[in-house]
Amino acid sequence: MPTILYESQHITLNTHENLLDGLERAGVEAPSSCSSGICHGCMAQALSGTVPPDAQRGLTDHQRRLNYFLTCQCYPEADLQFTLAGNLNARTAATLVDKRVLNQRVLRVRLQAEIDWRAGQHIILWRTPTRGRTYSLASTPEEGFLELHVRRRPDGLVSHWLEHQLGIGEQIQISPATGDTYYSPAMPGQPLLLVGTGTGLAPLSGILKQALNDGHHGEIFLYAAAGEPHQLYLCDELNALAEHHRDFHYYPVVHRNQNNLPNLLQGDLVDLIPRRHPKLRRFLVYLCGAPTMVEALQKYCFFNGAYMEDIFIKTFSPASKESPAA
Ligand code: FES
Repeated sequence: MPTILYESQHITLNTHENLLDGLERAGVEAPSSCSSGICHGCMAQALSGTVPPDAQRGLTDHQRRLNYFLTCQCYPEADLQFTLAGNLNARTAATLVDKRVLNQRVLRVRLQAEIDWRAGQHIILWRTPTRGRTYSLASTPEEGFLELHVRRRPDGLVSHWLEHQLGIGEQIQISPATGDTYYSPAMPGQPLLLVGTGTGLAPLSGILKQALNDGHHGEIFLYAAAGEPHQLYLCDELNALAEHHRDFHYYPVVHRNQNNLPNLLQGDLVDLIPRRHPKLRRFLVYLCGAPTMVEALQKYCFFNGAYMEDIFIKTFSPASKESPAA
């Protein structure tokens, strides 16, 4: 049985228990958000011992060299001593500068903070020192603010607080922007396929804006899906962009269209994308939203011509109600 030390406190792990769960069971207020290896909010730093390689998956080379790892992905097999101090020190204060309800489901939040980011990456908003939620960035650095599309939840740890309690001008702690889902074409003429459900539109709209800002001159196809027409959002803004950029094509998609509203595609993205895009050779693909859709279309895109390294995905985490796409 390996010896696990959180600074100087002994932590005993149950069989198949990850370090984050073990810490919480031991009464340590350990920071976390997604519990699925996406947000990096549970980052710790090894002081001595051996870090399992899986606990460093998705970290930068620099972070690995400094022995950072993710407690929610860590199943130690050898002695390990670690600290959470770096996690807490890496946070930055952000100021709420605007919030607006976009529809029944989505709250748009804008923050200002001195951080570097790319549209499509994600940050964690910390409601308390140890409890945060992860949100994708819908704005480009050129816009000068961080824009988040927050899924409105009456019982949401962060979403309800953002909507009803945090005032304009008040501050919140955020973690640095992370994630590799951002605009990064090998060639500016590469066609882009952006597909999302719900607030998966947040990273996609940011990536779209960055591509247009950067003079992308390949075709761009954006499919944004919702259950019903009233759950769609940003339609006017996206239609306006499509009018001004002839290579940008915006397709709102709904499962149900009982009133037969015009200009909507109807159906399931998993069926619809293959019908409309039978060949995806050289496409750069971004898939954001429900895991079943993302996983199915990731396979489809790969088997129909897109290189795996050109397919970027971001899923809702089943472990968190407010995850990167939320
Ligand atoms: S990566 Fe561990 S809580 Fe998100």
